[in-house]
Amino acid sequence: MKNVFLNNYIFISALLLLMYSCKIPSVNIDDDISARQSTSIDSGWKFYKYEKLQDADSLIYDTRPDYVDTKQVVPADAKPTEAVLKKNNSNALKPWIMPTGNDFISNPKKRFKRPKGNPGNDFAFVQKDFKDSAWTTVSLPHDWAISEPFLEGWDANVGGGMGRLPSPGIAWYRKKIFIPKSDQDKSIFLDIDGIMSYAMVWVNGNLAGGWPYGYTSWRLDITPYISPGEYVQLAIRVDNPPNSSRWYPGGGIYRSIKLTKTNSVHVAHWGTFINTPEVSTKNAKISFELTLQNDLKEKARVKVKTQIFELDARGNMQGTSLAEMVSDQLILPAGSKMTWKDTTHLTNPKLWGPPPAQVPNRYMAVSKVYSDETIIDIYKTPFGIRSLNFDPEHGLLVNDKKVYLKGVNQHHDLGALGAAFNLSAAKRQLEVLKELGANAIRMAHNPPDPKLLELTDEMGFLVIDELYDSWERKKNPLDFHLIFSDWSEQDIRAMVRRDRNHPSIIMWSTGNEVGEQYTGEDGAAIAKQLRKYVLDEDPTRPITASMNYAKPNMPLPKTMEVLSLNYQGEGIRNSPGYAHLPGINTPPLYPDFHKAFPDKMIISSENAAALSTRGTYIFPVTKEISAPVSDTTGGDSRSNYVSSYELYTAPFGSSADKVFESLDKHPYVAGGFVWSGWDYLGEPTPYYLARSSYFGLIDLAGFKKDRFYLYQSRWRPNLPMAHILPHWNWKDRLGKITPVHVFTSGDEAELFLNGKSLGKKSKKDFQYRLRWDDVLYTPGELKVVTYKNGQFWAENIVKTTGEPYRLELIPEQKSIEADGKQLAFVQVKIVDSNGRTVPNANNLLHFKLNGSAQIVATDNGDPTDKTSFVSHSRNAFNGSALVILKSRNEGNFKLTVSSQGLQEGSMLLVAKN
Ligand code: GAL
Repeated sequence: MKNVFLNNYIFISALLLLMYSCKIPSVNIDDDISARQSTSIDSGWKFYKYEKLQDADSLIYDTRPDYVDTKQVVPADAKPTEAVLKKNNSNALKPWIMPTGNDFISNPKKRFKRPKGNPGNDFAFVQKDFKDSAWTTVSLPHDWAISEPFLEGWDANVGGGMGRLPSPGIAWYRKKIFIPKSDQDKSIFLDIDGIMSYAMVWVNGNLAGGWPYGYTSWRLDITPYISPGEYVQLAIRVDNPPNSSRWYPGGGIYRSIKLTKTNSVHVAHWGTFINTPEVSTKNAKISFELTLQNDLKEKARVKVKTQIFELDARGNMQGTSLAEMVSDQLILPAGSKMTWKDTTHLTNPKLWGPPPAQVPNRYMAVSKVYSDETIIDIYKTPFGIRSLNFDPEHGLLVNDKKVYLKGVNQHHDLGALGAAFNLSAAKRQLEVLKELGANAIRMAHNPPDPKLLELTDEMGFLVIDELYDSWERKKNPLDFHLIFSDWSEQDIRAMVRRDRNHPSIIMWSTGNEVGEQYTGEDGAAIAKQLRKYVLDEDPTRPITASMNYAKPNMPLPKTMEVLSLNYQGEGIRNSPGYAHLPGINTPPLYPDFHKAFPDKMIISSENAAALSTRGTYIFPVTKEISAPVSDTTGGDSRSNYVSSYELYTAPFGSSADKVFESLDKHPYVAGGFVWSGWDYLGEPTPYYLARSSYFGLIDLAGFKKDRFYLYQSRWRPNLPMAHILPHWNWKDRLGKITPVHVFTSGDEAELFLNGKSLGKKSKKDFQYRLRWDDVLYTPGELKVVTYKNGQFWAENIVKTTGEPYRLELIPEQKSIEADGKQLAFVQVKIVDSNGRTVPNANNLLHFKLNGSAQIVATDNGDPTDKTSFVSHSRNAFNGSALVILKSRNEGNFKLTVSSQGLQEGSMLLVAKN
């Protein structure tokens, strides 16, 4: 073992430069597993959910207010209201839960002591010998609601807003884990990525702690409750209230849990902070902090050495250490924490930046804690080297280069897979967003699964990490405003401490459209308090909160460095077609904000809220560039579909065309985040009988809507592309006006119908689509030829197809790992005898997989389809459907899709280790 403690960085740098210039082998860090073990305990949980709330035990976290207001349809931009006072409840278990957050409460006097007593210890489900064999066996991440039938109708217990699935409810998870005798002196923790919600954990019958906010990751120290050499019984109670969310939250342990074992002296939870205060291509200064924790009853003497390695694109460590920081001897008093700080430099650093102009290069800091000569902990922190500037006139600069924010808002669910996090599904979402040309994601409106941020680092997305959808004032009767006063410090510090080393994160958002926009100085005081917490944890990034109501002269915007405007930039219900609608009415506000805050960068944190149902076109088509959806403009409240002419919006929204114009006319705005990238479960504005949203550029199954191409034409100007809408299968429109619109990254286009030119059109200033609004339908071929700067650029053809003839299967992956986790996504297309997708075919499909692989879910992207996601039969929607597969076993599995009267389709799925 090396035990050389060097302090002379100049010497090190010189040495490193020398080593770096030689070819360096892939490195093997001496991972001493006795130092720290972190293992997944995701498999083999027993699960039980009470059928009815009335049957549930009374082990409640806290009393909930009575409420009568359970309106299913509340406009997203309705004014949040004051909280209803809670009654005190002496039986509530909150006092035993509060200490779990102590690590995130800065004032020691405000930390909580576990009260005496052990509530729930006599309850059967927490007992070691309780027979749970009749409970369902599940693996984490687990979302208890996603495989359930949808609830129909206006009277459903869970309405469209929360996705019509039974995510509310109370359930228990139990698991036994063995802790060997050799762990006698270890500190043992559960590292929980997220539980939805109000989790409370009993360990061997002891109420050990918990965490109410469903989106926070947290750690529970279970050391005091276990006897090494024996099995440990974990019992976790999860309680997801009704009327608690504006979208589908999922339910249960929907993220992973790890069992982490360390020596008593170890790097504290999320105990490192790396930032790069000086960055150039020649040199980077790296500032490093590491917090040590001593769980011993005596003082400890340690030294720390941190080395920096390069990571390749896949995250594998390369070569030998490029820089090294070594501490003097550190003395940690008994039961204490201590932070060691140091800096180092890297010459010719490979910077992290968003593609396509930059490369998301990453590094790894490997910290070793030594007691004498022995390594007692190894802690790895991936990071990136990059500089950020938030320029009020020029927007965001990453490494001194302007990066216009081409952003999307994303919810946390993964469509048919629900809230249960899955890496391959998350990666699929990001890959489609890359193809779109997006470079930024706002995590709306909560911290995501930590693995999603590893992906955004790796793929080079810029991220806004957001904490809450409400502070003290409520949007729903039982939403997380109920825990704000008790938990906001812990939640926000946990978010920042967990995520601050990710190069992808560019700013923190403390809230979305919070009710405190309306409460003047009182609201601003809360913003300032939250800001203080963030700055303690990370003084390097700007802090914001998105505003759909606060105006430049109000106190709230003054509290933030970056101004995040939701819809206010383009104006809300202000243009002619919208002005009659009830609700907030705001003129376009970019100039006013820019004038009032000449030193603050502005982003459009939410814009558009445009609506459409993939492949559905409703006539007549508005002549405007933006119109609020209604039964006479783009909507159909009987079918619950919205037209894909991509001109229709929520009452407070603006079409993409209008948003682009507004952004282009205010070039100081750093860019924007469309609401939303993908469709998501719940919030099916404007049709709350549906199950999922209409906002996405991509539908819930991952199929591209027409709007995808409108954004792609803007965000990837160098990609030759042209896209025609609508489809050309209109039996009932012979001779009728059927407008044809074209999205292209070119600047000019000529449209042909059955070989006859319908004229050449070119884009005028602030025009983003080319439209032929008087085309009379006749079947055949529509062809568009586009030009850029007078040269041929791209073309697109849409043809009237024949009748549905056969099923074509298009696997997105050729093979998957046989690990029961990695997913294969297979698109099913209904095609005619010439292999052309029939764009309005909705035939009923049946899916069959032979062998032990599994059909995890099916979908078709239709927001009104309430066929269960686990069904092996479902209708195609406008020509397409999706099957999601996985396998625990190796082999070749055959997926067959059949439909009456059609030639079946089949494919082989290869699963291998
Ligand atoms: C915004 C809100 C989002 C979403 C969106 C579309 O006002 O911040 O969460 O609701 O409207 O309805």
